[in-house]
Amino acid sequence: MPDLTLPPYSKNNPFPAHMLENRLLNGAGSAKETRHHVIDLRCSGLSYSVGDSLGVFASNRPTEVAELLEKFCAAGTEMVELPRGAGRVSLYEALLSHISLAAPSKKLLTAVAAGASSAGDRLEAERLLGLDAPVLREWLEVRHLLDLMDAFPSMVWDPALIVAESRKLVPRLYSIASSPRMYPDQVHLTVAVVRFESLGRERVGVCSSFLADRVALETGTVPVFVAPSHFGLPEDPAADVIMVGPGTGVAPFRAFLQERVATGAPGRNWLFFGDQHEATDFLYAEEFREWAAKGALARLDCAWSRDQKHKIYVQDKIRENAAELYAWLMAGAYFYVCGDAKRMAKDVDQALHDLFSTEGGLSAEEAAAAVKRMKKEGRYQRDVY
Ligand SMILES: Cc1cc2nc3c(=O)[nH]c(=O)nc-3n(C[C@H](O)[C@H](O)[C@H](O)COP(=O)(O)OP(=O)(O)OC[C@H]3O[C@@H](n4cnc5c(N)ncnc54)[C@H](O)[C@@H]3O)c2cc1C
Ligand SMILES: NC(=O)c1ccc[n+]([C@@H]2O[C@H](COP(=O)([O-])OP(=O)(O)OC[C@H]3O[C@@H](n4cnc5c(N)ncnc54)[C@H](OP(=O)(O)O)[C@@H]3O)[C@@H](O)[C@H]2O)c1
Repeated sequence: MPDLTLPPYSKNNPFPAHMLENRLLNGAGSAKETRHHVIDLRCSGLSYSVGDSLGVFASNRPTEVAELLEKFCAAGTEMVELPRGAGRVSLYEALLSHISLAAPSKKLLTAVAAGASSAGDRLEAERLLGLDAPVLREWLEVRHLLDLMDAFPSMVWDPALIVAESRKLVPRLYSIASSPRMYPDQVHLTVAVVRFESLGRERVGVCSSFLADRVALETGTVPVFVAPSHFGLPEDPAADVIMVGPGTGVAPFRAFLQERVATGAPGRNWLFFGDQHEATDFLYAEEFREWAAKGALARLDCAWSRDQKHKIYVQDKIRENAAELYAWLMAGAYFYVCGDAKRMAKDVDQALHDLFSTEGGLSAEEAAAAVKRMKKEGRYQRDVY
């Protein structure tokens, strides 16, 4: 039972959850690293609905913090002020959990540049600070605080100043991949781990690597909160749903299907999934195949982008099935898209527009109006990032 004398857990007061499972979803030889995480919500008093996201406060890599402390010649026990009056903590705590070490801000560069003791560093800082804002942003975005320190050895790297001028380490959101009807005390997540190399340094995404590498199962803690969303199943359980979720975009649709199965919703379900290779990247393959075999999934269409020479994407599968998909939409089906915002969601949106033209005979303007109407009616929902 949650302690009712305590304030409820929220973004301002995250719940220190334990992680019960951390499982690689990709098979051997895959280029991807997508993980299934089970977060324990027992004793939190937190509840969630399908479509919601989980907010996670990660900490930075201790190895990076140690490297920074060494460069500062600091022990880490020195007390520092956090930005925006957020309190006073040890330098170690500030670097580990409170400030973003990646993508230093222009404000930080300006502050440290003022103390450059070599003419070379001063000139280079002046050159950078004189660049057009988008160019400087791009330069800073691909760098870590450690890169900046290496680039300007003569600057005065005062840790208190750095902490004061840095951005806050913000929580990351993850679409919840489970239904509370099946897992009332757990939240499941489907997380793509960000790992790459640039400027000669091996780099990781703060939160995806925190979940993958730095939380000890059952004993470590993950500070979390539930972020409610507009994204959710139709109120009418008899309504049909079409779900387009390649890669980690499949997460909320696993939750949708668990919910529809648990509630015995009579509406039909159609999933479009896609990833690189069927053999290694079919996330939750067994579950989806079983739902398809049992009829919980009326249709399961997959686009394997790298199993042949030419790319096949979810929008190609949408186009292949245009007549049937259009018939579902005309019968009132809801259309959901989740995953990559930059490319996939745009292309799927175009495919949806095209469907109204090719199957419905509408002009481009009429198709745009039809899609707009679907959005207004809540029948076209997107959760893209
Ligand atoms: C509503 C919502 C739901 C989401 N749901 C999910 C989900 O279910 N699953 C999921 O995995 N993610 C999801 N995300 C994304 C998630 O919140 C994080 O953005 C993601 O995990 C990366 O965070 P990180 O802290 O690991 O990486 P960060 O530390 O934030 O680093 C990411 C940054 O690294 C850089 N980068 C990444 N790859 C490369 C590369 N190859 N080369 C150069 N630079 C690179 C880019 O600048 C990128 O912005 C969701 C986001 C939102 C807003
Ligand atoms: N910065 C970017 O440009 C970018 C792009 C995609 C994803 N991401 C991020 O990378 C992380 C992991 O992504 P993920 O594992 O969820 O999968 P993903 O990278 O989105 O890939 C899933 C599938 O979508 C395919 N895909 C690529 N472009 C597409 C398009 N225009 N239309 C439809 N499908 C397309 C991919 O094919 P191929 O890879 O074979 O082309 C792959 O088969 C996410 O956080 C996501 O936001 C970033």
